[in-house]
Amino acid sequence: MKLLVAIFSIATIWALCDNVVDATHTGVTRHYKFDIKLQNVTRLCHTKSIVTVNGQFPGPRIVAREGDRLLIKVVNHVQNNISIHWHGIRQLRSGWADGPAYITQCPIQTGQSYVYNFTVVGQRGTLWWHAHISWLRSTLYGPIIILPKRGVPYPFQRPHKEVPIVFGEWWNADTEAVINQAQLTGGGPNVSDAYTINGLPGPLYNCSLKDTFRLNVKPGKTYLLRLANAALNDELFFSIANHTLTVVDVDAVYVKPFETDTVIITPGQTSNVLLKAKPYHPGATFLMMARPYVTGNGTFDNSTVAGILQYHSPLKSSSIKNLPLFKPVLPALRDTSFVTNYTNKLRSLANAQFPANVPKQVDKHFFFTVGLGTNPCPKNQACKGPTNNTMFAGSVNNVSFVMPTKALLQTHFQQNSLGVFTADFPSSPLHPFNYTGTPPNNTMVINRTKVEVIPYNTTVELILQDTSILGTESHPLHLHGFNFFVVGQGFGNFDPTKDPAKFNLIDPVERNTVGVPDGGWVAIRFLADNPGVWFMHCHLEVHTSWGLKMAWLVQDGEHPNQKLPPPPADLPKC
Ligand code: C2O
Repeated sequence: MKLLVAIFSIATIWALCDNVVDATHTGVTRHYKFDIKLQNVTRLCHTKSIVTVNGQFPGPRIVAREGDRLLIKVVNHVQNNISIHWHGIRQLRSGWADGPAYITQCPIQTGQSYVYNFTVVGQRGTLWWHAHISWLRSTLYGPIIILPKRGVPYPFQRPHKEVPIVFGEWWNADTEAVINQAQLTGGGPNVSDAYTINGLPGPLYNCSLKDTFRLNVKPGKTYLLRLANAALNDELFFSIANHTLTVVDVDAVYVKPFETDTVIITPGQTSNVLLKAKPYHPGATFLMMARPYVTGNGTFDNSTVAGILQYHSPLKSSSIKNLPLFKPVLPALRDTSFVTNYTNKLRSLANAQFPANVPKQVDKHFFFTVGLGTNPCPKNQACKGPTNNTMFAGSVNNVSFVMPTKALLQTHFQQNSLGVFTADFPSSPLHPFNYTGTPPNNTMVINRTKVEVIPYNTTVELILQDTSILGTESHPLHLHGFNFFVVGQGFGNFDPTKDPAKFNLIDPVERNTVGVPDGGWVAIRFLADNPGVWFMHCHLEVHTSWGLKMAWLVQDGEHPNQKLPPPPADLPKC
């Protein structure tokens, strides 16, 4: 009898825990509607019909507080298949709402809709949303602003105003045609025609003066700039002339504040920075500029987006025009040492209120090489890869990921993976080589849909090692469903005997996207506390297209609140 009571009460406790999100859910439910439709947009004197959310470019901002539930109904009115990803949202036990096409869901087909349903748990800062299918994110993106819970202050000076600054890339051409063409030849896709700030290329491009982002400020006031890099293929340096920025958060996690003239931000990353307006005279104007940080040998868009920071003035704009315009000095295109310096400054707050819960002991070690390789050119086809008879391929541990035609999460949930994926992703390279030395002669990859399976609550250490097979290159790796701690980084080959001793397990930065250094490695740790299938890929879209991606499968835990719930009824079908 006693035993029965004990069993009953344990069951009750777990049943209660199952609703743990609801029990602590002090937030409200916020509804959004995303109508995916075509819209004519003109930039650089070039008008094209682009895929938008609600006709807006860039797309609408999502605003929520930590703890809120979001219900976002996406209705597809265009010919393309669509799926939307909420980049950086943890999606605790809500993997069905994560969004990458053929990973967590089948795409939303023309005329169909899907309600993304998730709760923002333990996160506050800036994230962003974007399409997660082909290259549609070139026009389908927008910021997600997560305010702290009501009554909870920022751990820094309260800003006078908050301003999202989302970087993007503009193509005069249709980006779907650009990537489809590149996939046929296996060559590098055409580069963009401009970078943008909030969709605007600014005055340094031809025919673009009127499409300039302007930020009006008042002397002495502090502004919180919510930065996000939505560019497809370029890491960016960003700076404002004569002004210093204070970095206070990255990827919706607070950091120890530090000052900098320039920010480096990779595609996928976000960062909140404080801008303190000086006692400049009314009408004073300064340029803010962003242009790429370049590694690798590929061609790139070597242009600069500019916006204008303007001090509030009662003067007429005609008299403002005569004032001098100051330009910031950005690091050189290939200034890797600036980037290393900058990333070394990023530290978690690691205090009582915002602890850094770094896994101290590791259950499973993984070593993944990331980089480019090749596939053979199909017979009777003209290829434009690194050689005439090869096509570019991106790979992780020499496996170039093949997109399945059914969604992995569904097949996993239905225990029906046969013919869709295999669970044998290599935990380290099958044929070790000198990763950053003279590259091996054989650059070929294998093309498979493999996942890395890990039990619930595994503590993972993952070394991401850049390769020199086709030249070293920095790769911004993004992990869905988790934040990870960046415990170490370095150049050359990772040394398992010496490097771990230097790991920072005290206050490493916590984030969802990290740059694997050009010709180097980065070490991350995370706790696999979120059951589901989680995509991990280079956030340079061209590399993702080439297969530089893989997926983790985190198994269910024993208890009901450690399991992935069943899919929602409206989950799209393939
Ligand atoms: Cu920002 Cu898998 O994406």
